[in-house]
Amino acid sequence: MDEMQPIGIFDSGVGGLTVVRFLFANLPKERIIYFGDTAHIPYGSRTPQEIIAFGDEIVSFLMRYGVKAVVAACNTSSSVSLPYLKEKFSVPILGVLEPGVRAALKVTRNKRVGVIATTATVNSGAYPRAFRRQDSEVEVFTQACPLFVPIVEGGRMESPEAREAAREYLAPLKEAGIDTLVFGCTHYPFLAPVIREVLGPDVRLVDPAEETVKELAVLLKKDGGRPGNSPVGSRGPHAPRHLFFTSGSAVSFYDSGKKFLGEFPFTVEQVSLDGRKGS
Ligand code: DGL
Repeated sequence: MDEMQPIGIFDSGVGGLTVVRFLFANLPKERIIYFGDTAHIPYGSRTPQEIIAFGDEIVSFLMRYGVKAVVAACNTSSSVSLPYLKEKFSVPILGVLEPGVRAALKVTRNKRVGVIATTATVNSGAYPRAFRRQDSEVEVFTQACPLFVPIVEGGRMESPEAREAAREYLAPLKEAGIDTLVFGCTHYPFLAPVIREVLGPDVRLVDPAEETVKELAVLLKKDGGRPGNSPVGSRGPHAPRHLFFTSGSAVSFYDSGKKFLGEFPFTVEQVSLDGRKGS
C-alpha cells in the first residue's frame, strides 16, 4: 500500500458519512473517495442481486482512483454483497457488520442485543449469524425500520414522524429486555437523539462505525500502508483531497453533508455508473 493512495467508502446515500466522521477524527491524514448511490436508495428494499450489482459497479469505480482499501459503509451491502466483493476485487474490503457485532459484545451485560436495520439486512439473517459465530449464548432481536432511511435522507431527524416511527420500531425491543442496541444501518446514528429518548438511558447504543475505523487502522498498519502526510482541515497545498461522488443530486448530498458533519468544505460531483442493472 502507498501512503498517497486513498480509501474508498460507499453507501446507498449519506449514511456512510457516519463512518467518515470517525475516519476524519481517528485517521485524519487519510484521503477518501466517497460514493453515495442516492439514485438507487433505499438499498433496504432492493433484491440481493441488485445490491450485489450496485456494489460491484461502485467498487469498480473506486478502483479507478487507486484506492488501497474499501469500506462498505452500508450494512445492507455488508450483509448481502461482501463475500462476492471480497472474492472479486484484490483490494481489502471491510464491512461494518462484523465490527458492529464485536463492539456490541464488548458492552452487553445481559447478552440480549437488539439490531435495527433495513429490511434487506434483516431478511439476510447476517447479524444473528455473525453474533452466533462469536458468542453462542447471545440472544439477538432484529427489527426492520424502513421509514428511518427516508427520514434521515430528508433531514427530518427531530420530526414527529421520526419520534412516532422510533416508538413503533423500538417497542418490541424494549419488551424483549435488550441492554444493547446496534445501529445496523449507517443512516441510523443520525437518529440517536430520538432513539435515546425512546429507549431511555440504560440501553447502550452501538455505532459500528467507530469499531470499523479502528479495524481499518489496524489493517492499514498491517499491510504496510502509512498514513498520508497532511493534517485534516488544512487548506494549504498539503490538504488531503477528499472526493465525494453521488449518483443522485449533488446539491442534496452537499446539503446533507453540511448538516451531518457540521463543516463540509468539499465539492460533490454527480456521476452515473455505466452498465447499471435496476433503476
Ligand atoms: N445505509 C445503508 C445501510 O447501512 C442502507 C440504507 C438503504 O439504502 O436502505 O444499510
